[in-house]
Amino acid sequence: MEERGFQPVSSCSLSSARPSVSPEEETRAGFVAVNYIDCKPNYVERFECLFCSRARMIDNMPGFIGMKVLKCEEEGQPYLVVSYWETKAHFEAWVGSPEFHEGHKRAFADLKEYRERSEEPPMTSSFKTYTVLAR
Ligand code: HEM
Repeated sequence: MEERGFQPVSSCSLSSARPSVSPEEETRAGFVAVNYIDCKPNYVERFECLFCSRARMIDNMPGFIGMKVLKCEEEGQPYLVVSYWETKAHFEAWVGSPEFHEGHKRAFADLKEYRERSEEPPMTSSFKTYTVLAR
């Protein structure tokens, strides 16, 4: 990784990240968006550090309640970036906002770097959206 100029922080770990949404807050959520991210093994450390020092641009968005990044206990499974929203419209407004791009600046720059080298992307993602059926 070093040859790319990445600076992984060895003390950084998702498990030590404080949850950013309390159970009480979570019950306000009517809408949940989950981004599933598959990460190449040699990008895992960088990926986890990006989230440990995430931009937090989303934190002040209207209707945003909180988020969690889940790491599967099973190897080779995608990470889940779970975000809780008051409504779908709030989520859609964030996806179309400058804060979305600012919050992904480093991730998108990495993807661009790999693309320019004609290398496979270090991570791929797809998201699904959910309404809250039961609590
Ligand atoms: C090409 C598509 C995407 C990729 C590769 C990706 C990957 C990442 C990465 C690595 C970060 C860490 C922040 C950083 O860059 O420093 C991040 C932030 C985040 N991602 Fe994505 N993401 C994508 C799209 C999405 C989508 C569609 C959603 C929601 C469904 C989402 C939810 C989030 C949230 C909530 C954050 C935190 C933003 C902040 O702190 O302001 N991402 N993403």
